[in-house]
Amino acid sequence: MAQDSLAYLDGTFLPLAEACVPALDRGFLFGDAVYEVIPAYGGRLFRLEEHLARLGHSLDETRIPQPLTREAWQEVLSTLVARNGGGDLSVYLQVTRGVTPRRDHAFGPELTPTVFAMTSALEPPPAGAREQGVAAVTCDDIRWRRCDIKATTLLANVLLRQQAVDAQAQEAILVRDGQAVEGAASNLFIVRAGVLATPPKGPALLPGITRDLLLELAEAEGMPFEERAIPAATLAEAEEIWLTSSTKEILPVTRLDGRIVGTGRPGPAWRRMFAWFQNYKARLRRGEPDRAARG
Ligand code: PDD
Repeated sequence: MAQDSLAYLDGTFLPLAEACVPALDRGFLFGDAVYEVIPAYGGRLFRLEEHLARLGHSLDETRIPQPLTREAWQEVLSTLVARNGGGDLSVYLQVTRGVTPRRDHAFGPELTPTVFAMTSALEPPPAGAREQGVAAVTCDDIRWRRCDIKATTLLANVLLRQQAVDAQAQEAILVRDGQAVEGAASNLFIVRAGVLATPPKGPALLPGITRDLLLELAEAEGMPFEERAIPAATLAEAEEIWLTSSTKEILPVTRLDGRIVGTGRPGPAWRRMFAWFQNYKARLRRGEPDRAARG
């Protein structure tokens, strides 16, 4: 992230290196904040309505007041993207509960939320990951019980991702009560007996915007799929395992806990979905509607 790129902080556009938040901001003290990561392709924000709806859910559930109208968000984020050169960018936005007069867990009367946004380059998955796939490890899901809220309080996710990296893997697949729920920063899909499956939405996982697009693409293109629980014990029998996110797109997992997944190469269902996803991005870059209609 270039320090000279432009950021947005509480109503002002300024160089990222100059964007400073007071130490008594509850985002700094408690991780009392929510966030979004929104891709822009060809300078166009991807699924903005869906990202803002999820932000609204995170704000409501944490009782942080909505700081901007939908139109104001659109204006701020599209200005930020344009002023950082357009193209393919990842937009990070964060809303904290605000600056507190003294450190206290309870938040008391309403504070003024701090609003911050910045962009960074959005790189497609490297060729190596597309050709060979990536390694993942399963880990005990040590997170809290409201993983549907996109909170910046990510210590468990940070430790879990590091556990994966320490094991020479790209991502941790998290297991709770015997079920594989999602990655440390991604959603989980498997292909078994030719059918695509992903766990249903609920408090155990983040409702990923990329996840939803994959289900729309599967529907539009006639790939059979289901939303169902994925027992961790059945991962070893999966023909394919994928991880999805705004920054990773769709990563094929070809090694899990040191064992080969399927044929050990990215599978045929992944190839088809990856191509549909790239077509979708290309249409968005051309200014076509942000919907997975066929054709
Ligand atoms: N993370 N699950 C978790 C726990 C995540 O942190 C993310 C994304 C996802 C995928 O959601 P989406 O498709 O909307 O990006 C699922 C972002 C990219 C991050 O924290 O950087």
